[in-house]
Amino acid sequence: MSERWTPDSWRSKPVVQMPAYPDARALADVEAQLATFPPLVFAGEARNLKKALARVAKGEAFLLQGGDCAESFAEHGANNIRDFFRVLLQMAVVLTYAGALPVVKVGRIAGQFAKPRSSPVEKVDGVELPSYRGDIINDIAFTPEARLPDPRRQVMAYRQSAATLNLLRAFATGGYANLASVHEWMLGFVTGSQQSRRYQELADRISDALNFMRACGLDLESHPELRATEVYTSHEALLLGYEQAFTRVDSTTGDWYATSGHMLWIGDRTRQLDHAHVEYFRGIRNPIGLKCGPSLKPDELVKLIDILNPDNEPGRLTLITRFGSDKVADGLPALVRAVKREGRVVVWSCDPMHGNTITSTSGYKTRPFDRILSEVKSFFDVHAAEGTYAGGVHLEMTGQDVTECLGGARAITDEHLNDRYHTVCDPRLNAEQSIDMAFLIAELLKQERAGKARPLPAASGM
Ligand code: PEP
Ligand code: CO
Repeated sequence: MSERWTPDSWRSKPVVQMPAYPDARALADVEAQLATFPPLVFAGEARNLKKALARVAKGEAFLLQGGDCAESFAEHGANNIRDFFRVLLQMAVVLTYAGALPVVKVGRIAGQFAKPRSSPVEKVDGVELPSYRGDIINDIAFTPEARLPDPRRQVMAYRQSAATLNLLRAFATGGYANLASVHEWMLGFVTGSQQSRRYQELADRISDALNFMRACGLDLESHPELRATEVYTSHEALLLGYEQAFTRVDSTTGDWYATSGHMLWIGDRTRQLDHAHVEYFRGIRNPIGLKCGPSLKPDELVKLIDILNPDNEPGRLTLITRFGSDKVADGLPALVRAVKREGRVVVWSCDPMHGNTITSTSGYKTRPFDRILSEVKSFFDVHAAEGTYAGGVHLEMTGQDVTECLGGARAITDEHLNDRYHTVCDPRLNAEQSIDMAFLIAELLKQERAGKARPLPAASGM
């Protein structure tokens, strides 16, 4: 891997999960056009996120990453973006208070369009068609025309990402995200929640803290730190031609950055050492994620780290583990030990979604809330036992009141799934389930922080 890297050096490597476009000329034209478009993010922002993640790696902050499994052209509206952002902020406040540390907020948004699929084809009533691969590639309608990869969709995805990011930036800095309102929303949530008694105490303590600040003369509505927030974007960089078009040299450092989003990650299906995705990622300087599923061997992980973060730069690499609630306790410790033994600095984050997908009796692809929570709990347990830091979570979630995941405080059952099952890909936690999850993770985070602060026993002689 010591060969020279260029934004297109991935093209000479084997690749999986990329669409076969029927018209190579049309694809090349689109890619050339995208390369002339303005970047969505700039390198300085990616560096700021890397710094924030370096703090997570040190145990001084917590990463909250979440959003749609796949964004869609049909669901692109201001309300969706606002509601997602609102839920993400509420979750962040709960976690910030419980952990007494900054929460780094990263959306799976403004670019999360391309999907790896477990099968290249889909069969319905005896008819077989190519699988849907995300709106940036083809259309979800079950017809041969719709499933044909169309490069013009990349331009649409870019424009949607730009509009989404624009609104997110406005919400983040324009006053919508001020701490006092976020707390008001949260109180509303707690009052209406089935678990309100469990959450009330934490909510009251946050109220007290805000009242104390007000009493000290701090104006929560106008103080810059409390009025605005930082939010970053991320997506799985699966469609490498699109990513290449947005790979630009940062004029201040001369380094290459992906400018399609702040943080990009490599999916569990495309992390082969000698393949195109790993080749592309090694050359960009953004903070990156690597999905780590049960098939990843510890020595292979170390080799991947050698390639992806050869300088052991803190904040560069987030390992997003996604084992499944039944496999995490057995599988995760070996990875954690290998990384620790080699002295590699990483952020450990838990994706409790992708290893816990089941088909319900009525045929829906779903995820039980309890299994999601159970994987997060095991993740914290493993890190406590290994002396490492459980640094973050990675969730598929929406601000809408959908019925896609089973369970939660309102106990969604198989019969409910049909009511509002809207996802174009994997099932997401709805708004209420997401905030529920944040309160439950807050309890784990508090224990983790308490464990860290506990003085060494006297018997240790210190
Ligand atoms: C995803 O995050 O939507 C995804 C496909 O995950 P993984 O690569 O872990 O399967
Ligand atoms: Co998914």
